[in-house]
Amino acid sequence: MTGRRYLIAGNWKMHGRLQDGTALAQALAEKLGPNGDPRFEILVCPPATILSAVSAVGEKTALLTGGQDCHAAPQGAHTGDIAAEMLADAGAGYVIVGHSERRQNHAETSAQVKGKAAAALRAGLKAIVCVGETREQRDAGQAAEIVAAQVAGSVPEGATADNCVLAYEPVWAIGTGLTPTIADIAAMHSMIREKLRGLVASPEAVRILYGGSVKASNAAEILAIDDVDGALVGGASLDAGSFWAIAQACR
Ligand code: 13P
Repeated sequence: MTGRRYLIAGNWKMHGRLQDGTALAQALAEKLGPNGDPRFEILVCPPATILSAVSAVGEKTALLTGGQDCHAAPQGAHTGDIAAEMLADAGAGYVIVGHSERRQNHAETSAQVKGKAAAALRAGLKAIVCVGETREQRDAGQAAEIVAAQVAGSVPEGATADNCVLAYEPVWAIGTGLTPTIADIAAMHSMIREKLRGLVASPEAVRILYGGSVKASNAAEILAIDDVDGALVGGASLDAGSFWAIAQACR
């Protein structure tokens, strides 16, 4: 972490109804207040159904909100899909694209993820581009190669440190309680930064988040790694206390 402000992002996935979602956002908004904390930014990505309400709760505070996915097109005959412009209209400043649950459950390719990330930029949103290998790929010694290809294939033209964040989430670490070793996370993040040097302007300023079983008890050692600039948190982001405790681990 050299000069980059940490981003602690909560991916609520398919959790959260109006009442509990706004209550969770309210608790975080109260902790952040209008000025937030100089060490970190806090982002929550609720289901699209409550994005407007959650954004309204955070409006006069430093709480940031985002979507979990978007379509590449600005509008059209795409039943059930959501345009990046619609997320912006609902108050979002960010959108997650290429999460492994989208890549796996919806067979999204890196080319499609790149189209979604480009749509985010077009809509004035910041894209959080997710990459990560499966257990089989890691066991076969292919993790670095797979992640490098995902980065090269998913980061859109025009990406900068201001509009694009990377998130390394090993698929086998998501929701399992397992995490790579500190050395493995460090090696992957440094490889991703190296890859970004050929892809974006000011690669040193791009934030690279780690995601996969981040919790209060392991956050400090993960967030202390040089090229780890924040966390993308699933389960532990659903409780204000545990999510806030992760943010408190930022140096
Ligand atoms: P968990 O923190 O529940 O492992 O989820 C990580 C994740 O997928 C965040 O996008």
